[in-house]
Parts: sequence; C-alpha cells; structure tokens
Amino acid sequence: MEIKKGIDLNRFILEEERKHPEATGTLSHALMAIENATKIISSYIRMAGLVDVIGKTGRINVQGEEVQKLDTLSNRVLIEHLSGSGDFYAVASEEMEHALFPEEGKDGKYIIAIDPLDGSSVIDANTSVGTIFSIWRKTSSDESTFLQEGKKIVAAGYVIYGTSTMLVYSTGNGVYGFTLDPMVGTYLLSHPDIKIPEKGKIYGFNESYYNKWDERIRKCVDFFKTEGYTLRWAGAMVTDIHRTIMKGGIFAYPLVGSKAKIRLLYEAAPMAFLVKQAGGLATNGTEDILNIKPQALHQRVPVFMGSSEDVKKCMEIINS
Ligand code: AHG
Ligand code: MN
Ligand code: MN
Repeated sequence: MEIKKGIDLNRFILEEERKHPEATGTLSHALMAIENATKIISSYIRMAGLVDVIGKTGRINVQGEEVQKLDTLSNRVLIEHLSGSGDFYAVASEEMEHALFPEEGKDGKYIIAIDPLDGSSVIDANTSVGTIFSIWRKTSSDESTFLQEGKKIVAAGYVIYGTSTMLVYSTGNGVYGFTLDPMVGTYLLSHPDIKIPEKGKIYGFNESYYNKWDERIRKCVDFFKTEGYTLRWAGAMVTDIHRTIMKGGIFAYPLVGSKAKIRLLYEAAPMAFLVKQAGGLATNGTEDILNIKPQALHQRVPVFMGSSEDVKKCMEIINS
C-alpha cells in the first residue's frame, strides 16, 4: 500500500498487520489500546488547571520520586485499556515496583513496558510531557521476561502532549508520526517515515550538573558550545528526544557523580529504538543502548542519543 498522509492510525496498524500473514492481531490490539489510553490521557492533560489532575499525590514511588496525580492517572488509564483490550499482556511500569501479570491461564504473547507520564517535574508548568511504550515478546511467565535487550523490541513509541498531541511509533520498519485531530478524536498520519538529520545544531544536556560531570563530558559540551550549538532542555525526555529527532542534535543524560537518571527498560531502550530507526545513534558512552541487557526492572543508564555525526563526535571526545 502506498502510505498516504492523513490515513488514520487504526487503518495504518491494520495495514501493517496484513504484511504479516502469521499475525494473530494481538500486537495490533496492544497498539490500539495504547492509542485509546493516550487519547484519554491527552484530554486530561488538555483540561489540566480546570480539573483536579495537577499536583502531588503525597506518595513516593519505587524510584524515590514524588508521585504526581497525572503519573498515577496515566498509569491507571494505560493498564485499564491494555487489560480490557481482549488480549492479555504483562505490564512493567515506572510507577509499579513489580510487573503486573494476567491471571493464570490468560498468558499473552507480548509484554509491555511503560513510562506512563514522562516529565513529571514540569507538568504544572504547562510544558510538553509524554508517554513512552515498548512491546516485547514474552519469554517467560515471571519478571525476568522483561530483562531483554532493546534490540528485541517488537514495537516502541511515544506520545508527546505538546503543541499538538502526537503518537510516534515504529515496528522496526521506520518511524511514523500521527497527529491527534482533537475535533475528530483520531490520530492521523502527519509525519511518514521520519528521518533524523545527520547533524544538528542543538545540544540537550542538563548543564546544571556541569561540575558533577566527568571531565570528558564537560569537554564534549564545551566542544558543542564553541561550535555554536544552542542549548535546549525541556526536562521531559519525550520532548527533548522528539525535538532531537525533528531538528537534529544530541540529547544526553550522562552520569552525575556516579548516578544515572534515565531508566533503561521503559525510557532509554524504546527511545534508542526510535532514534536508531530514524537513522540516528544511541549509546551509553561505550555500548549501543539496544545491546544492553537489563539486570533489573528499574535499572538506570547514562544515555547519549541523536544525530549520528553529533553522537559520534561526542563519543570521540569522551573516548579520546
Ligand atoms: P519521569 O518524569 O518519567 O520520572 O522522567 C523524568 C526524566 C526524563 O524525562 C528527563 O529527561 C529527566 O528526567 C529530567 O531530568 P532533570 O530533572 O535533570 O531535568
Ligand atoms: Mn520518564
Ligand atoms: Mn514517568
């Protein structure tokens, strides 16, 4: 099928499914459940300030971070839609210490990792936040099934609740972006076959940590500055990576002292999958992020991803 701008996401998912005669429809159901859940999350976000969705819940999550109302709401909406989709998926989430498994005998083929709401710390400032998802094949019926390398991802994507709401995803055949038409309530193909520029002019590092970074990281940032790059930092990985994919450049969250911030399973791996599908690079400084096998659900990793030339240059400086 010739891919036309404007076709709706459901039709696109079904056309993709048709390319695989062996497909049972389970993957499509998962994608459609995520599609519906994120439409609801989007409508709550669009109403923030008018309905009671902003602010802290008073709870601290497994990460030691304050849980915001929108974190909990987004997690609940995604899980409800996935478990009500007619298929059964195990789900691991930033907001849950352990993965959730369907009841016995209802084992599905796929498992799903989610960051239900990315950018918790900027929600109440009315800037762009997101949702990240990745779908993998189930390899066992316990939590170890989630400890797979990113290269084994079957499909991954994010939704950015930005100027418009956009769902960007890939099943390993390029990256496609769909914009939510808020009047019709449908995601329509607006960005077919997204490619990241080979080189950009923007670096996205949280430079407030400059003095806590390793000297080699400082050198890398100094290089971008002398080359005339400009700094952008949204405080939400989805927003920073979306900008990096659209405009080029580099996004990084290196070690701060000895600590990494970005979670491998549900943030770094899916975003690395998308950046690489768009023609970019994603590394932890020494290794392709898609080759790292997690040892734990909430494991963190340093990340450097974006335009191939910019990431290569940064690695050259770091490893020299
Ligand atoms: P989350 O809101 O899901 O916990 O993720 C926040 C992450 C990531 O999205 C972002 O790039 C980073 O934290 C922001 O870190 P700073 O607090 O250093 O800006
Ligand atoms: Mn996040
Ligand atoms: Mn989150």
